[in-house]
Amino acid sequence: MAKVKSVFICRECGYEATKWNGKCPACGEWNTLEETESVVSSAAPKSKRSVSVKDLSDSIYGINDVEMDKDEVRYETGLSELDRVLGGGLVKGSLVLLGGEPGIGKSTLLLQICQFLGDGHTILYVSGEESARQIKLRAHRLGVDSENLYLLAQTDCEAICAAIVKERPEIVIIDSIQTMSINGLTGTQGSITQVRECTNMFMHTAKNEEIPMFIVGHVNKDGNIAGPKVMEHIVDAVMVFEGQRNLPYRILRAVKNRFGSTNEIGVFEMAGDGLREVDNPSAMMLEGRPVGVSGCCVACVMEGSRPIMAEVQALVTKSGFSAPRRTATGIDYNRLYIIIAVLEKRLGFFFGGLDAYINVIGGMRIDEPACDLSVAAALWSSLTDKPIGEDVIHLGEIGLGGELRSIPFAEQRILEAQRMGFNKIILPRSALKGVRTDRLDIKVIGVSSIRQAFDAI
Ligand code: TYD
Ligand code: MG
Repeated sequence: MAKVKSVFICRECGYEATKWNGKCPACGEWNTLEETESVVSSAAPKSKRSVSVKDLSDSIYGINDVEMDKDEVRYETGLSELDRVLGGGLVKGSLVLLGGEPGIGKSTLLLQICQFLGDGHTILYVSGEESARQIKLRAHRLGVDSENLYLLAQTDCEAICAAIVKERPEIVIIDSIQTMSINGLTGTQGSITQVRECTNMFMHTAKNEEIPMFIVGHVNKDGNIAGPKVMEHIVDAVMVFEGQRNLPYRILRAVKNRFGSTNEIGVFEMAGDGLREVDNPSAMMLEGRPVGVSGCCVACVMEGSRPIMAEVQALVTKSGFSAPRRTATGIDYNRLYIIIAVLEKRLGFFFGGLDAYINVIGGMRIDEPACDLSVAAALWSSLTDKPIGEDVIHLGEIGLGGELRSIPFAEQRILEAQRMGFNKIILPRSALKGVRTDRLDIKVIGVSSIRQAFDAI
């Protein structure tokens, strides 16, 4: 049986009250509550909703029935290192976030690719940071003069999207998201709300118009300011441009990629005329290596799926302090303490009264335990003043018992060592399982402890 009940609804805000009030409790307006009759059916149980729900059974597909666009349209950027990180070029309609600290070279990289992309595609470069004249000056320095490159110095997100829809460029670059804003939205430029809503607006434009977009996002030293982090789940790919400003090397890393692997990195060098690709990072890292000097050792680090040579240097010298100094640049400080402790306890070397310094050349940072043995070998070499042969590579994780633990990607590292002309590689025996070493030009020595590794040197 149906029951009729009176409710009072506010004309202004829609608030529902059970009894009349002069003033709406929700919005505070006077004399806005109106009496309405609401029918409550007692026949239907309350839990059953009478609202009709959309039937989605037609929208559910078997995975094999979904049609696939086999050939995704990809634009090559002219920088093969960038294409590699993108997974083979820029996918049509995708949104790519390029993050990095201010001054690392994001604008330079994106302006540089305009020359190649501009050959056959129209590009709109939107900058909220620089005027068209400033961009032109930079473009001139980089040798970018494509006729298909259009500049727009603007920060109004809605106006930019409207311009994109009207002009229909084939590729859009937004530099940077922190300078974009939507009128009427709370918060200033760069605030979380503005960044998120602007990204959403650009994403809809990119998807609806099928125009690929690069969006620049600044990241601070910790890499986690509000901006780019809230964008990460909206965009299709996130690339991070890393490096130290006082060193010329830059590494481009994919953190997320819906169209490719995140294991790829691209290596660049910042020169006077912009960024140059580095095809052979190992050679770059080993350039100018001293020969016949004690305390130098070479390791092979994995940067994603790419092996790169790194030179580790150690200096062990008499300390002038009561507590000897331990300094590590490029490796974890605590790791150095552990390796020294193992060398003292398990191999009987003595570092008391001696300062120990470790430096990885080229500003590289080694986070892999696989390079422990190189650090230990460099320390040993400097301590005993015996140079390590310049054609030897050491790899292996050191356990507290003085044993060598297995490392991943042994085969790739061996092949890279061979390619770089090394003659001998010493690595944990357990890492050699399943690795074919008979057809190699390089001598592969499997060992199971640090002592055996040092004997093999
Ligand atoms: P930029 O692309 O403006 O950095 P971002 O957009 O990431 O903030 O690059 C800034 C630095 O790059 C600047 O400090 C100078 C240097 N640079 C060169 O060394 N050579 C060049 O040809 C260019 C254009 C910049
Ligand atoms: Mg910039």
